[in-house]
Amino acid sequence: MRLDHLRKEYRAGALLESRAPADPLKLFATWFARAVAQGGPDRNAMTLATADGRGRPDARTVLLKSFDAQGFVFATNYQSRKGREIEANPFATLLFYFPALEQQIRIEGRIARVSAAESDEIFMARPRGSRIGAMASPQSRVIANRKVVESRVAAITKALASVEITRPAHWGGYRVKPRVIEFWQGRENRLHDRLRYTKSPRGWTRVRLAP
Ligand SMILES: Cc1cc2nc3c(=O)[nH]c(=O)nc-3n(C[C@H](O)[C@H](O)[C@H](O)COP(=O)(O)O)c2cc1C
Repeated sequence: MRLDHLRKEYRAGALLESRAPADPLKLFATWFARAVAQGGPDRNAMTLATADGRGRPDARTVLLKSFDAQGFVFATNYQSRKGREIEANPFATLLFYFPALEQQIRIEGRIARVSAAESDEIFMARPRGSRIGAMASPQSRVIANRKVVESRVAAITKALASVEITRPAHWGGYRVKPRVIEFWQGRENRLHDRLRYTKSPRGWTRVRLAP
């Protein structure tokens, strides 16, 4: 099937050195805020790319929980496929695509678990049902049928009916500490703007990449 009819021009904006801040976190915050203001579902969804111990790539969507100069945080099951890959190969890339703004952001760096206290905070902010879900699901494991998790949810709900549900050890946050951040702004005739920031001990340096 040919898909030529899906072709479009990118004209929503420009990314020029003269207007881009020296700190990429500032630029991320501006772009992200604008994407959130656009409305729509899952505005904090991002692609998380990891690779296993042999370097074979993998990717899935996760939700960004917070970000600051220390890095970008999401939460998951530490024993999931991604959790096992991260333990074997602690590097990750995060990818954001904001279609209405014609923008893409790639964030590369080392990845590590956040502190237990920080994971507790993320967990306790979840509604009770999601906490029980995180507790009950052996994420990424093969299960015989849906009933397996439903029965576990029912058993946990009953056993902990009058108890505060606290974080299980297999669940928590990860933080990607950015070393490289690339911003892409779609432009006419595919002559897009790309600015790549790289962190060194002296701070961030910036270069322009060919589209
Ligand atoms: C919009 C969206 C948001 C998601 N958010 C998360 C998340 O924050 N954490 C998570 O573990 N999985 C999340 N998932 C599910 C993952 O994409 C994935 O199916 C799951 O984490 C298992 O991945 P793994 O087998 O690579 O470990 C989300 C999926 C979608 C489509």
